[in-house]
Amino acid sequence: MLAPILGVPKGSISMHQNVTVAQAIVASCHRYDGPRRRIVMADLEFPSNMYLFEGFRRYGAEIVYVDSGDAMRTNLDRLLEAIDERTALVPISLVLFKSAYIQKAEAIVERAHRVGARVVLDVYQAAGTLPMNLDALGVDFAVGGSVKWLCGGPGAGYLYVRPDLAPELEPGIVGWAAHARPFEFAPGAIDYADAPERFQSGTPNVPALYSCRAGYEIVAEIGVEAIRAKSLRLTRRLIDLARDAGFRINTPEADAERGGAVILDVPDGEAVAAELVRRGVIIDHRPGAGIRMAPHFYNTRDEIEHAMETLKSLIPHP
Ligand SMILES: Cc1ncc(COP(=O)(O)O)c(C=O)c1O
Repeated sequence: MLAPILGVPKGSISMHQNVTVAQAIVASCHRYDGPRRRIVMADLEFPSNMYLFEGFRRYGAEIVYVDSGDAMRTNLDRLLEAIDERTALVPISLVLFKSAYIQKAEAIVERAHRVGARVVLDVYQAAGTLPMNLDALGVDFAVGGSVKWLCGGPGAGYLYVRPDLAPELEPGIVGWAAHARPFEFAPGAIDYADAPERFQSGTPNVPALYSCRAGYEIVAEIGVEAIRAKSLRLTRRLIDLARDAGFRINTPEADAERGGAVILDVPDGEAVAAELVRRGVIIDHRPGAGIRMAPHFYNTRDEIEHAMETLKSLIPHP
């Protein structure tokens, strides 16, 4: 069900508890005791991804954080420069969680492959609102979850592995469900199943996997292209209203650079966010970024206008 939404072949995705677990499985397919031991990531990445890779320092990994010098966009030149023959993995978000900036994944994948590194693309903030063709992108791994634009709830993380790469990978974090003959419960080392089962761990979270299906069905029925077209109309409107009201916009204004959310940096953001929610305007807040407004296919232009009117009534002089 996810394959067409991500633009990958059927049978290339395994389901996991969350992104952290999926990233851990990817990380465990690699070694960090040779010359290629670096993990290169931007300083604006989702911190949980940093925590996970930081944990691999104990196996010899070196973590290189690339300074973006900006709160909204990563610095592509610096990122590309940091990726070299010492790089094992480049974990990047397709859409940054703090600003909704769409990273230049194509250039990063191209550079990584030129020097023999692999890219792990976190599509959590993109899947279901941004059309994507990960197969054409040629990215090695993609991870994400179902809580956001996929309307699918928790416990339904996913891992895509490039089909031509998958057979040569041997995850260290592995369990009986990844065995070629899982119900034999054979002792000793694992005999890996073919992909995608070889990336499985233990017992799958079956209720979560059923509960996420309805969201995928709705997103697929509407189509991500149509969702994106409406999302751009609504976020453009939000940006226009926010600009007129004098709010600081922490999201790129160019359509091509912007995912599905608009982040407004307002004074006292956390308290304002709580008051908006209390008044029925359902938004989110991220420290250091601001109020995240994330209209989806079910939202209307009237709701956008109502949300901005409510925000303006709380902050008349931004
Ligand atoms: C880009 C990104 N990655 C990962 C996560 C969360 O990952 P997990 O599924 O491990 O909770 C989030 C949640 O906000 C996110 O925005």
